[in-house]
Amino acid sequence: MVTIPKTMRAVVLIGHGGLEKLELRESYPVPAVGPEDALIKVGACGLNNTDINTRIGWYNSDVRDGTTEEGGVEGFAALGDADGAWGGGIDFPRIQGADVCGTVVAVGQAVDPALIGSRVLVDTWLRDWRDPEDTDKCRYFGSEHDGGYAEYASAPAANIHPIDSDLSDAELATFATSYITAENLLVQAHVGQGDVVLIPGASGGVGSALVQLCRRRGAIPVALCGASKAQAVQALGAEAVLPRAPEDLGAALQEAIGRPTVDVVADVVGGPMFGQFLKVLVQKGRYTCAGAIAGPIVEFDLRDFYLKDLVFTGATIIAPGLFADLVGYIERGEIKPLVAATFPLEQVPDAQRLFLKKTHVGNIVVVP
Ligand SMILES: NC(=O)c1ccc[n+]([C@@H]2O[C@H](COP(=O)([O-])OP(=O)(O)OC[C@H]3O[C@@H](n4cnc5c(N)ncnc54)[C@H](OP(=O)(O)O)[C@@H]3O)[C@@H](O)[C@H]2O)c1
Repeated sequence: MVTIPKTMRAVVLIGHGGLEKLELRESYPVPAVGPEDALIKVGACGLNNTDINTRIGWYNSDVRDGTTEEGGVEGFAALGDADGAWGGGIDFPRIQGADVCGTVVAVGQAVDPALIGSRVLVDTWLRDWRDPEDTDKCRYFGSEHDGGYAEYASAPAANIHPIDSDLSDAELATFATSYITAENLLVQAHVGQGDVVLIPGASGGVGSALVQLCRRRGAIPVALCGASKAQAVQALGAEAVLPRAPEDLGAALQEAIGRPTVDVVADVVGGPMFGQFLKVLVQKGRYTCAGAIAGPIVEFDLRDFYLKDLVFTGATIIAPGLFADLVGYIERGEIKPLVAATFPLEQVPDAQRLFLKKTHVGNIVVVP
């Protein structure tokens, strides 16, 4: 029987703002375990942009810039605490960190005690499991619910997936947010065998996942990324790797893959390249989007949209079974993790500083 302490070390977010809003607490209460919950001893927790976007209040529609290095470090001082999170306001203090790998150490009365001792990943989309299709009730782990930048985290047992894998906790903590988002983008755009898929930001968490998940389903990923990361992205399986922002994207595609068009754009970047993304889509092409790191406000030529019968899909809340699919891909070795660096818990701000520089490929992980 494992003894659960009453307090733990945790990094808490105390409000919207710069990195100074992240505070290390040495004696923070271990989360309560409700009847349907499980308590996890956190082995590792991957970083993601939601942590930063929520901290700096980027989801507030008054913010018109992308997630820049400076904005990510200093925050947007003028914003208040309302509407700063992806789904509205959140309560502080909050433990962020969605991408948890760890071991179950306790369960609530309604949960099978056999789960104790299991190594697990957390499905980051918390929902009412009696009504799982109701997306109005969805919340995000580490955003509207305390997450994994701590020694312990609790989550509904229905969100907890035992995993059988030789990968380390840090490696397993790179998957959740990035890979479910990437898979959801491909599902929403009905990407299938032979589809040519353009992937802006292909060196990042979602982008590197998209490259691998495209290959997994027989599609052909074409990457856009920073020059220093091109070789690593090619090695993941990209058919071709183009610069982050070619002056003439169609001509760059023609030269690299022998055609000036793509069937799908799977985008988490947006910003100034958005207009060109629409120009290179084929008739009835599909634009699917889960982020706008280079800027949410874009120039949109409606003629590209209607004259080419384009199909647009947003991709945020996943279908209830998708996380289980992802666990299967990991267990069968169909996708691989990319750990760019690990940091101890007390260095979450340093981890975020490095994350914001965008010099890495894959993801950065905190190991409590
Ligand atoms: N809707 C959802 O559920 C969901 C889930 C996950 C992520 N997201 C969003 O998707 C976006 C990407 O997430 P991620 O985790 O893949 O991010 P990431 O790991 O930080 O990677 C993003 C990549 O975008 C590229 N990029 C291109 N233009 C950029 C610019 N102006 N500024 C910064 N980077 C730029 C960079 O690659 P190069 O330097 O190689 O070009 C960077 O590595 C974020 O905005 C995030 O909030 C949304």
